Amino acid sequence: MHYLLLNFFFFFCSQIDHFGFLQDGTFKQRYLVADKHWHQPDGPILFYTGNEGDITWFCNNTGFMWEVAEQLGAMLVFAEHRYYGESLPFGQASYSDSKHLNYLTSEQALADFAVLIENLKSTIPGARNSPVIAIGGSYGGMLSAWFRMKYPNVVIGALAASAPIWQFPDMVPCGDFYKVVTQDFAKSGDNCDANIRRSWKAINNLSSSASGLQWLSEEFSLCTPLKNNNDAVSFKSWLQETWVNLAMVDYPYEANFLQPLPAWPIQVVCKYLNFNSTVSDYQLLQGVAQAAKVYYNYTGNSPCLNTSQTATGSLGALGWFFQACTEMVMPMCTDGVQDMFEPEEWNFQAFSDECNSVFGVRPRADWAGTVYGGKKIGSHSNIIFSNGGLDPWSAGGVTSNITQSLVSILIPDGAHHLDLRYSNKLDPPSVRDARALELKYFQKWIRQAQKSTGTRPSISKNWKMFT
Ligand SMILES: *[C@@H]1O[C@H](CO)[C@@H](O)[C@H](O)[C@H]1NC(C)=O
Ligand SMILES: *[C@@H]1O[C@H](CO)[C@@H](O)[C@H](O)[C@H]1NC(C)=O
Ligand SMILES: *[C@@H]1O[C@H](CO)[C@@H](O)[C@H](O)[C@H]1NC(C)=O
Ligand SMILES: *[C@@H]1O[C@H](CO)[C@@H](O)[C@H](O)[C@H]1NC(C)=O
Ligand SMILES: *[C@@H]1O[C@H](CO)[C@@H](O)[C@H](O)[C@H]1NC(C)=O
Ligand SMILES: *[C@@H]1O[C@H](CO)[C@@H](O)[C@H](O)[C@H]1NC(C)=O
Repeated sequence: MHYLLLNFFFFFCSQIDHFGFLQDGTFKQRYLVADKHWHQPDGPILFYTGNEGDITWFCNNTGFMWEVAEQLGAMLVFAEHRYYGESLPFGQASYSDSKHLNYLTSEQALADFAVLIENLKSTIPGARNSPVIAIGGSYGGMLSAWFRMKYPNVVIGALAASAPIWQFPDMVPCGDFYKVVTQDFAKSGDNCDANIRRSWKAINNLSSSASGLQWLSEEFSLCTPLKNNNDAVSFKSWLQETWVNLAMVDYPYEANFLQPLPAWPIQVVCKYLNFNSTVSDYQLLQGVAQAAKVYYNYTGNSPCLNTSQTATGSLGALGWFFQACTEMVMPMCTDGVQDMFEPEEWNFQAFSDECNSVFGVRPRADWAGTVYGGKKIGSHSNIIFSNGGLDPWSAGGVTSNITQSLVSILIPDGAHHLDLRYSNKLDPPSVRDARALELKYFQKWIRQAQKSTGTRPSISKNWKMFT
């Protein structure tokens, strides 16, 4: 596989605090480099703006970069986001308290990326005039877009895949996210969304008695049996997150992103949820349990279901929770009508109180809009926003063209950043088209950059004009 071409595994010494001068410490930031296809000198650099997890995991799941590297004669760099993977500013103490977590912000992460790129360009022979394109998915995609906005001197353009840059207060309706999840289930099998909508009452009913709790625990093969009503509440949010994650990874082929899953996993799940309205609560929940096990036990290796876990351990859930509790305030709500979940309003105060009790910090709801521009981003340029129609995060994404160079690419049959994955023979035509268009924009930006620096206009044998 392509990752074997990875030829360097490096650490870069970066400032812990780029924006103040009292904390003068540095930390080791991990980054990966693959230059096998790089055309030296001046060939482009594709730079993955790492998100909330182990960078090698994102590297393994971003096959698109490996595939276009050859066509563009590009070097690949994958930079790890501070506080995740091995890039821990205070080592094991990084998460010990909010004093140590204080430097976990998107602004610091962008500054890390900028300083790293400037350093690579001045130290790698032949890289001085290399145009750099930022690429990222999800939060990494938000970082790519913001990186181009804040550091247009460092990157010539950005691909922001499945990047919900508008999932912030007062930018999009808080219920749209769960509406997309529900639509995915509604179109993947008869009565599928209706039965999930009915399941919450059935769970409430059963969890009102000790025998019901025991029955649920056994039916779902839970590692830790449900003991009381609080457990039942966490059980329901775990199930809700399970359906959300399935919507994110509803890929057309067998894949292992958040969990190992079959092709079109929601269709497989929905086979267990096609009852019409006559079944008992018990029958309904037996179906729900079978459905959940598609997600948690596709490999058949799972001895029990752990309601404290919904995804791979490569993601840094605690770090992301801290970011949500500070800058990344993303309102979500459900109404049980347009979506298949129990109604729950967005309650900023309750969220803020929870953040305060966990970390001793309170979120700043409006900061992301102020610092990154919210809906007023039309003065920026050279950013592609790609979104999948099946992906709930598309609800907070840019899904129409803003200007000639702030472009939205839609992938109706795509889930969460499908376009960033390796190509596959089961890929729908919409994702093939999206990747081809993304590549054309990269080529256009590179040509523009090389014109303006006076370097060679031809960078690869597969060069194509694009206007
Ligand atoms: C990435 O892939 C390599 C090669 O298969 C593997 O050794 C490594 O564990 C993977 N990393 C993650 C975080 O999955
Ligand atoms: C709870 O479930 C039982 C058995 O299915 C049913 O008879 C009863 O009516 C339900 N109670 C409520 C409050 O839904
Ligand atoms: C529901 O399913 C049962 C058993 O498959 C069937 O007998 C019944 O006719 C169905 N009812 C409706 C309303 O479709
Ligand atoms: C997972 O699947 C295997 C194989 O079918 C089965 O033996 C095991 O009991 C399942 N685990 C759970 C938690 O259902
Ligand atoms: C369940 O997951 C949590 C969080 O990852 C972990 O700490 C715990 O040990 C797991 N429990 C079991 C029984 O596997
Ligand atoms: C945006 O413009 C590009 C280029 O013309 C086009 O391919 C794309 O479909 C447009 N996107 C949307 C969402 O209309």
